Parts: sequence; C-alpha cells; structure tokens
Amino acid sequence: MRCCLLHHINKPHSYYIITLGCQINDHDSELLAGQLKEEGLFPAPCIDTADLLIINTCAVRKKPEDKVSTLLGELIPWKKERPDRMLAVGGCMVQQRDVADRLARKFKHVDILFGTHVLPHFTRLLEMARNTGKIVIETGEVDLDREGLPVSRKNRFQAWVPVIYGCNNFCSYCIVPHVRGRERSRPLHQIVNEVKELGQSGYREVTLLGQNVNAYGKDLAGENRFHQLLDELSKVPEISRIRYMTSHPRDFEERIIDVIARSENICEHFHLPIQSGSNRILKKMNRGYTREYYIRLVETIREYIPDAAITTDFIIGFPGEEEEDFMETMALIEEIRFDAAFSFLYSERRGTPASKMKNKIPREVKRARIMDLNRKQQEIGLQINSELVGSVAEVLVEGVSKNDPHKLTGRTRTNKLVHFKGNPDMEGHLIDLRIEQAGTWHLSGEPEKERI
Ligand code: SAH
Ligand code: SF4
Ligand code: F3S
Repeated sequence: MRCCLLHHINKPHSYYIITLGCQINDHDSELLAGQLKEEGLFPAPCIDTADLLIINTCAVRKKPEDKVSTLLGELIPWKKERPDRMLAVGGCMVQQRDVADRLARKFKHVDILFGTHVLPHFTRLLEMARNTGKIVIETGEVDLDREGLPVSRKNRFQAWVPVIYGCNNFCSYCIVPHVRGRERSRPLHQIVNEVKELGQSGYREVTLLGQNVNAYGKDLAGENRFHQLLDELSKVPEISRIRYMTSHPRDFEERIIDVIARSENICEHFHLPIQSGSNRILKKMNRGYTREYYIRLVETIREYIPDAAITTDFIIGFPGEEEEDFMETMALIEEIRFDAAFSFLYSERRGTPASKMKNKIPREVKRARIMDLNRKQQEIGLQINSELVGSVAEVLVEGVSKNDPHKLTGRTRTNKLVHFKGNPDMEGHLIDLRIEQAGTWHLSGEPEKERI
C-alpha cells in the first residue's frame, strides 16, 4: 500500500528531506527530522510517498543554487497531483530575504520558506502554513538557540556535533558569514555532555562542526578554546575517533596540534583549505595568511605527526588570478604534496566584495586551469596512496559499498576510503585492513583481524 493512502487531510504524516551543501546542513536536516519525529511524522522512503518535502539549500556556489530551481520546477506535478502535500524550502539560500521573496514569487507551489535562523521553529511554521493555507516566509532577525533541540541522526555510529555556529572571517568571495551570522560557540560542558551521551549510546566517531572550528571559544570566557575542547573530548572512552571541520589555517595554533598528537582518538587528518598558492590572491581573498605561513604550518604538523594526511580546498579563477598566480598554486601542490584537494571554480556571490572586483577570469581559462590542477593533484594523490600498499590501517566500517554490493567500505583514521570484502555485520566496527591496492580516490584491502 502506498503511504499516501494513509494521508489524513491537511496533517502530514510522512516527510522526506533533500539536503544540499555541507555537513552543517546535513546536521541541520537531522534537527529538522528530530522536530518532525516529535510531532509524530515518520520518514518516507522516497519523495513520491512523502506528505511533506523539505529542501535544505546551500548558497556557497551557483551550482547548488541552480539545483534548487531545477528541483522546484520538477516538483510542480508532485504538488499538483496532491495539493494537500506540503513543500518547504529552507537553508542558506533562503536565509537571504531577497532570495526567499524571489523564490516565493517564482514558485507558487511552495508552502514554507524558512531560513537557517528559524530552523528551531520549523514545526510552528508548518502549523501556521497548514492553518492559514498561505505561504509562510520566515528568515528571523537572529539565530535562534538550538540547545536541547531533538535530533534524529541518520547514522548509528557516526555523529555530527556542532561546536561553533557562524563565521567572522568574511573571506572576500564567501557568502557564508552573510547567511550564517557571527561566530557563536556552544558552551564546552554542553558539547562534552553530548559527546559522552553519544559514546554511551553506541557512537564510535564524532565530527565536530563549524565553519572555523579553530575559532571555538574566542567568544566565551575562561578555559574554553579549541585545544581545551579537544583535550576534554579525547578523554571520552567510548569515542574511538574524533574529527573536526573546517579549520582555518590562520587559527590553527601549535597547541591544537600538540593535543592532537598526544591524544589517541583524534584522527590524524588535517583538512586545511588554502584556496590559492599566490600571496597576491590570498590577500585579495582576505584569508589572513601567506603561502609561507601555510607551508610552515604543514611542516609543524608533520614534525608532530609524520603520518598525518593533509587535504585542502582551492578556488580557481578568483578575479585577477593571472597565469603566474595559478603557477604558484601548481608549485604549491608539488611542494606540499596533499593527500587530496577539492578544487572549485570561482563562483560570484552577490553582495560579497569579490563580486565587485575587476578582471574576472573567463570560464574557459578557469576550466583549463582546474583541469591542470586536478590532473597534477591526482598524480600526487595516487603516489601517496601507493606508498600505503602493504601497510595495515585501522578502518571504521561504514557499510556496503555503493558501487559494488559484494564489498564493504570504511575509512582510515586519515579519512581515506577503503573497499574490502567482508560481512555486512561488520558495519560500525573497527577492523585492521592490510592495504593491497591503491587508487586516486580509494584503497582496497583485506581484513587482518577485528577489534572490539
Ligand atoms: N569554512 C570553510 C569552508 C567553507 S565553504 C573554510 O573556510 O575553509 C567550502 C569551500 O567552498 C571553501 O573552502 C572554498 O574553497 C569554496 N568556496 C567558498 N565560496 C566560494 C565561491 N564563491 N566560489 C567558489 N568556491 C567557493
Ligand atoms: Fe567562508 Fe572564509 Fe568563513 Fe570559510 S572562513 S566560511 S571560506 S568566510
Ligand atoms: Fe552551503 Fe550553507 Fe554549508 S552556504 S556550504 S550549506 S553553511
């Protein structure tokens, strides 16, 4: 029987959430799911069987924004088929009031537009839309407190834990500070309690979330900085792995590296977005560090933790990026030898200082550069991975591989994906794998022995 046959007029029974963007949005969707669960709604297996559909949007680049327009267009028949279905659009795009208003004008089949600030009130907005039958648009003045909100987690052994909201950095290309507001750290004891509870309920890995986790505690009084938080969390016995994202290189103090090196459960993976290898461009980006500073930071990390994996993000084709600037980025990837890099074509964001900068780079030039960079980085990544063949790595088993149902996948502490043959019962367990083959994006291995 299709779920929709159970539908009671007006009151949605089931929901489906489409999440775009980063891990912060993934966790926001878990908070939305938590609220809906408390209201008695259950998750629908697919969009067609959902009474309520939420799209959690991202505004960081044009591509995820375009995806929202495409999706909304495709959903017109979905709403027409059953007008009592509800369609809500939330997240970073909608937090910009003018964008919310534009979406409301363009897509008349949307029932609720809600920004990230008002996420804790989602069920109230849902009620309002149901009662009035009119579109509800709410972006709020300030970010509402999220402490104590119910959460319905997607995974039963890996958990997201926000530690700091917002961002104060105002990198000249970035929309995030404009939508997520200023930095606000959660009280240390609340984070520690949440992680302890997660440990007691069977979670093995936590990823601490924030746009700049290294800034944790700057806005709090007392002994509450990021290295102190990490130190406290490293003492939670049930948690085998602690990860964090994202780090701003400027705020990655040596005392943080020291805590990571001394602790057993903080993973040896450093995702340090550099964005460009050219000092001239880094300055225009308002990143607050130089190429030399960054190289020194990586050297320090490698002095403390020789096997650390270092990954990064690049923006290619920032306004005014000359061939020499790009060549400096290319030289930097050879000098640092990143394990992996995520490179993005510069995408103009309205209202940011970079959008007003001259010397925009033509699309063909940007594309040619990103292809060069990716080719070089893939070569380096493959070389680094090949050196791991024959070694034994601890892997947290994540489940059956998406590409091959006969294989399982997991991740090393250094965040490398490993495929291997094994029993699906191993999901959520830590096992030792002997690495047998290396690719650019993943490794293959054979189980050695299982740990408890
Ligand atoms: N807070 C994190 C990451 C935020 S967004 C940090 O500071 O590193 C993730 C990545 O998206 C960034 O690292 C950057 O590489 C990319 N990005 C952000 N704004 C962009 C834009 N306007 N165009 C292209 N890439 C962008
Ligand atoms: Fe954006 Fe920069 Fe803040 Fe990261 S640190 S979210 S790139 S403004
Ligand atoms: Fe996108 Fe918002 Fe994350 S803009 S990258 S979903 S904080």
